[in-house]
Amino acid sequence: MFDLIVIGGGPAGYVAAERAGHAGLKVLLFEKRSLGGVCLNEGCIPSKALLNSAKIYEKAIHGSQYGVEIEGAKIDHQKVMKRKSKVVDMLVGGVAAKMKKHKVKVIKEAATIIERNSEGFVIEAASEQYIGKQLLIATGSVPVVPGILGLKDSVEAGYTLTNREILELTEVPNKLTVIGGGVIGLEMASYYVAAGSDVTVIEMLDHIAGQTDEEIGSILKKSLEKKGIKFLLQSKVVEVKDGAVTYEKDGQQTTVDGDKILLSIGRRAFTEELGLEKIGVETIRGTVPTDAFSRTNISGVFAAGDVNGKSMLAHTAYREAEVCVNTILNKKDYMRYSAIPSVIYTYPEVASVGETEVTAKEKGYDIKTVQLPMIYSGRYIAETEKGDGIVKVVVDAKYDRIIGVHMIGSYVSEMIYGAGLMIETELKVDDIKELVFPHPTVSEVIREALFEL
Ligand code: NAI
Repeated sequence: MFDLIVIGGGPAGYVAAERAGHAGLKVLLFEKRSLGGVCLNEGCIPSKALLNSAKIYEKAIHGSQYGVEIEGAKIDHQKVMKRKSKVVDMLVGGVAAKMKKHKVKVIKEAATIIERNSEGFVIEAASEQYIGKQLLIATGSVPVVPGILGLKDSVEAGYTLTNREILELTEVPNKLTVIGGGVIGLEMASYYVAAGSDVTVIEMLDHIAGQTDEEIGSILKKSLEKKGIKFLLQSKVVEVKDGAVTYEKDGQQTTVDGDKILLSIGRRAFTEELGLEKIGVETIRGTVPTDAFSRTNISGVFAAGDVNGKSMLAHTAYREAEVCVNTILNKKDYMRYSAIPSVIYTYPEVASVGETEVTAKEKGYDIKTVQLPMIYSGRYIAETEKGDGIVKVVVDAKYDRIIGVHMIGSYVSEMIYGAGLMIETELKVDDIKELVFPHPTVSEVIREALFEL
């Protein structure tokens, strides 16, 4: 008998198991593939290893602008991949060590829900049954594969790849076509263009980077175009044949030939064959709805991470998992979604938190916005030739509080948490003006922007 059974060992599952184990609960975690889930094995972490190599390469080829002459810089893809695997192994090993430290029993099998009996929830894996007083569903998400003509065959034949296979390619494709100009598409396009692929991104909308602030999205697009990535916007993919993609734009069909295709048009919650219906857990189009305490409609059953379809980010999953464990432990905690940062790890990086001008207006805020180029930062100028980074701050005019910060430039992924903190703690603009930021740093542009309001 376990206090908590966790199904899924990704960021939601392993963090919940770790926190619950640390608090003294008897925990069992099921993971059918590898501890760490998509994030550690085929998402956040391996992609960052690749993108770091792309960044080093970029710096090397532009070295002479900074007085550093580097000849013959090139990416050795096999070496990059080897290093990536080493990084992943190290982190997966780290998660396993944490499970051990907190006495979490880990079973590397697919689990299914059998029933709820008088003792708790009955879970089966590899023909064995286990009972948990509480249950956490943390089964994550899978890539969306739409019914585009020929797509399924192209996936099966290995021409069309998802985030998993693109991170395992042993050779750099000569021509790579990316379907979807969202986060995965842009990050992978950035690596493969640096590695030598001819990369085309096909995006249905009239802009890339989804909900990102429009101006920041267009600065990003220009930066990526300078590196050689081609973008086809307002273009809808209608057919895939082997490595060739046919898209429709303004009623006209055009085919782009290529060696490999990356399909990155979003992800969907994964709950298939889990048996949720056996204990009455509600699902809506495969996602498990939860309340602010990570509770599902069934008492004792929680869900966290991508499976609830709310935010689909690893760091959201961490918090939802912690909220679940605190709720089990009767500790006061609840999930808030208004200050969750999001980052695109391209070069330059994009980072945002809170409301954009568009979403703030939709929600009825009376807003003031201010925008500064990053060249207001001495460090940015010292380190960046012809940089076009910006920071944009959205302020709730009624209460004089920051409700959104959006940035493109250097180090933004590392400083966005500070902006999240300002939003979460509802700091007033005047309070932030009294804070001392380190000089010279790029972060100073956030503070400096407030004096322009
Ligand atoms: P996404 O939702 O970010 O982007 C998908 C894009 O595909 C959208 O721009 C959409 O308009 C476009 N699209 C949809 N159907 C299309 C079609 N038929 N033809 C052309 N374009 C089409 O999804 P993505 O990039 O697959 O990422 C999945 C998830 O992974 C996201 O929820 C994201 O939060 C997460 N992720 C987060 C990262 C980060 O935080 N840095 C990195 C990678 C993934």
